[in-house]
Amino acid sequence: MENGIGDILVRYPRGDRGFLIPILQAIQESYGYVSSEAVDVVGDFTGASPGEIFGVASFYSQFRFTRPGKHTVKVCSGTACHVRGSGRILELVEHDLQVKPGETTADEQFSLERVACFGCCALAPVVVVDKTVHGRMTSPKAQKLLKKYQD
Ligand code: FES
Repeated sequence: MENGIGDILVRYPRGDRGFLIPILQAIQESYGYVSSEAVDVVGDFTGASPGEIFGVASFYSQFRFTRPGKHTVKVCSGTACHVRGSGRILELVEHDLQVKPGETTADEQFSLERVACFGCCALAPVVVVDKTVHGRMTSPKAQKLLKKYQD
């Protein structure tokens, strides 16, 4: 992976922390996540410590630090979905998969993400698995949905 990251880093000036976010964005775009090895390489390149990098990246929820699972489950926590019970659905998914948003299950089957709004609020509460939108979600429907994607 380091060679690939090297190809990304040559586009940026060495030792300039101002490029931290675009560098991390480029890495995530290429690999789907920012690995701990990538954090070390970016730290060497920019002069930022791993703590600084995690701190900056954690501020932006777009970054993930674990390898994405086979399926990505996104639960909407926007206002329309929230008032229709998306919080309970998220809790249930967290419990069933034993992960928090931003994490991947131990079997690498599912990644869980929380999203601010998918732009289809009329279907609230909304859960998106991979690219498929599942609207008017309920806890029993969410459980069935997870089973369907479990191989
Ligand atoms: S608030 Fe959930 S889709 Fe808009």
